[in-house]
Amino acid sequence: MAEKPLVIIGNGEIAEMACEYFAYDSDRAVAAFAIGAEYIKDATLHERPVVALDQLATLYPPDSHDAFVAIGDGQLNRLRRRHVDAAKAQGYRLASYVSSRAFVWRNVEIGENCFILEHNVLQPFTQVGDNVTLWSGNHIGHRSVIEDDVFMSSHVVVSGFCRIGARSFVGVNAALAHQVQIGADNFIGMGAVITASTEPDGIYQGNPAERRTISAKRFCRVRE
Ligand SMILES: CC(C)(COP(=O)(O)OP(=O)(O)OC[C@H]1O[C@@H](n2cnc3c(N)ncnc32)[C@H](O)[C@@H]1OP(=O)(O)O)[C@@H](O)C(=O)NCCC(=O)NCCS
Repeated sequence: MAEKPLVIIGNGEIAEMACEYFAYDSDRAVAAFAIGAEYIKDATLHERPVVALDQLATLYPPDSHDAFVAIGDGQLNRLRRRHVDAAKAQGYRLASYVSSRAFVWRNVEIGENCFILEHNVLQPFTQVGDNVTLWSGNHIGHRSVIEDDVFMSSHVVVSGFCRIGARSFVGVNAALAHQVQIGADNFIGMGAVITASTEPDGIYQGNPAERRTISAKRFCRVRE
């Protein structure tokens, strides 16, 4: 049976990227975009309607449509999480996108609302939680676990047996040693070399990476 068409929640750059990837590299059709009424800029985007979120369930009901929340790392990934929870509360099933050009070993586990772009390598026994973005070209080493709501940018090397804590952001070209655990709510700077496990709510940068005095939640203007 064919997969249900999708509504994409969001209307920014990540939503436009998601529309491209789902439309041209999946068996999903993209029916529409949805966003809070106050954020609607144009009535259509890529020839598809942009509708207000409070109209979504009427116009594109969850019994005939699935959803994908295409929002970035705002507030250390909490904005995306809030929309995921709201869509689920309305009865939507959340799709994941995994590029046909990603390498995903047969026993890798991937949750819902994940966005896994080209040239990611997911080695045997890796686990990816829900609502995780892996932008292009990351290496996720064997047995590593990526917890829910993580946003990993590009060309990150995660060695084997690592764990990336929930809601963390990992910047471009970061490198993690074998068996390192990244605490929840971390912000790992671009090019950081993580040689040892990190504490929750920290910003780490440099080689070897050091913790900054400001908290990651404060830096990312998190509102709980
Ligand atoms: C770590 C980071 C958050 C710091 O941001 P910031 O506080 O605004 O940075 P600033 O430019 O004010 O620099 C503060 C200091 O940290 C240094 N610094 C900044 N980024 C650094 C990095 N990635 N590694 C090492 N040092 C860094 C600066 O040189 C500066 O040092 P100084 O005080 O001795 O002059 C940011 O540089 C970063 O890495 N962002 C992630 C980018 C990324 O990967 N984006 C992906 C998009 S999908």
